[in-house]
Amino acid sequence: MDNEFLKAEKILNKYKQEHVLRFLERRTPEEKTQLIDQILSVDFEQLIAILHKKDQHIEDNSANITPIRYEDWDKYDNNEQDAYTQLGWELIRSGRVAVIVVAGGQGSRLGHDGPKGTLDIGLPSRKSLFQLQAERLLNLSRRANKYIPWYIMTSPENHQETIAFFSSANYFGYPADECFFFQQNTMPVLDHDGKLMLTPSSELRLAPSGNGECFSSLKRSGALADMKKRGVSWMFYYNVDNALIKVADPSFIGVAASHNNPIASKVIEKTNPDEKIGIVCLKNNVPAVIEYTEIPNHLLLEKDHDGSLTYHAGNISIHLFRYDFVEHHADTELPYHTASKRMDYVDSEGNLIRPNAPNAYKLERFIFDFFPLAPRMTLLKMKREEEFAPVKNKEGEDSPLSARNLVLKLHEKWMINAGIPVEQLLSRAIEISPLVSFSGEGLDL
Ligand code: UTP
Repeated sequence: MDNEFLKAEKILNKYKQEHVLRFLERRTPEEKTQLIDQILSVDFEQLIAILHKKDQHIEDNSANITPIRYEDWDKYDNNEQDAYTQLGWELIRSGRVAVIVVAGGQGSRLGHDGPKGTLDIGLPSRKSLFQLQAERLLNLSRRANKYIPWYIMTSPENHQETIAFFSSANYFGYPADECFFFQQNTMPVLDHDGKLMLTPSSELRLAPSGNGECFSSLKRSGALADMKKRGVSWMFYYNVDNALIKVADPSFIGVAASHNNPIASKVIEKTNPDEKIGIVCLKNNVPAVIEYTEIPNHLLLEKDHDGSLTYHAGNISIHLFRYDFVEHHADTELPYHTASKRMDYVDSEGNLIRPNAPNAYKLERFIFDFFPLAPRMTLLKMKREEEFAPVKNKEGEDSPLSARNLVLKLHEKWMINAGIPVEQLLSRAIEISPLVSFSGEGLDL
């Protein structure tokens, strides 16, 4: 213990983290041991390098950015659409497709008590986001006569709670042995002066370090090896908080597989420059996403002759990754982005501080930083109203209520297409179970 303490002391002095030393002096022996272990596992040189590059993302993005080419699902004719969809079904049927949901985020803007996937957005069925996703998978699996393996990325903060939620709901009818829960990495949180932050339980404050940890975490957990054993060749990746997600959409899988680029991604038309979604573009001639927080103003507002936004391919985090690409890049080090957040902490005297304004840097890797590693990718433009109902905020835009309304609106459209008279639908909130229809099919009277 003494030896370890001396090592930690030396490191903390070297990296100007003396406040942690002062804090350590007042801890119980058990707390000390735990905190020293954490300190010894921190890569301080890496933290310094990340903070040093903190402002570079925005500057980098002002150079060599050009629009990227995409295909439009609605511009394919019926034969093309059928052929792609058939190919997707064949891949699902032959066990080539796996699904990954990234559910390790903290959902700090939403402030829901529990993992985001457990949220009930207020649909008539009161189903949680996880249940909607499970039932969409069940629908496809029944039709394909093949279960699609489902890999669920959690964080140390919400892992047990997520598993408990699935298990208490009997996995929503999905087979438990087709659900693989794996935990992502975390990184220390730093204050605006680069100091480590402490928690009331005498630990270093750590936070899940972004969905870009997905591939390395898949590998570390054995999930990647599990996919290989099953013969998976495509991974369908999505965010837990999209209430409209068409999990393992066969049509998208067919398009991706027939183009056979290492990555495919669904995009939607971005019409409002202020909308909080990133844009897909070319950066130095390779595919890239610029996050909405990092887009320089001149690119954000740039318009074509017809008045439309030049950078309008909006990223909605629905991707397909080819297995060999993920295997190849599982250990590739992505850059960290820093997000300034408000976070409670304990000072060196042990007082709990609750700041009113952002005071901390959260360090995150983003999944789309893998895009530049693919020489080419397939982009498929889809209709926003059929694909995207994000749940980010407590109220207002991108909230549970806005997502609920988008789901009900789409279901109303399905019913109208199926021949139900509009008058019968007026002011009625009717939800279609994913067990009945995946994307509007099978509702004809
Ligand atoms: P967001 O960036 O919207 O973050 O995540 P969030 O955690 O849900 O919400 P805020 O920013 O704290 O309010 C987009 C997707 O990436 C996942 C989230 O669970 C969500 O599905 N994610 C995010 C992770 O899996 N791990 C992370 O470390 C961060």
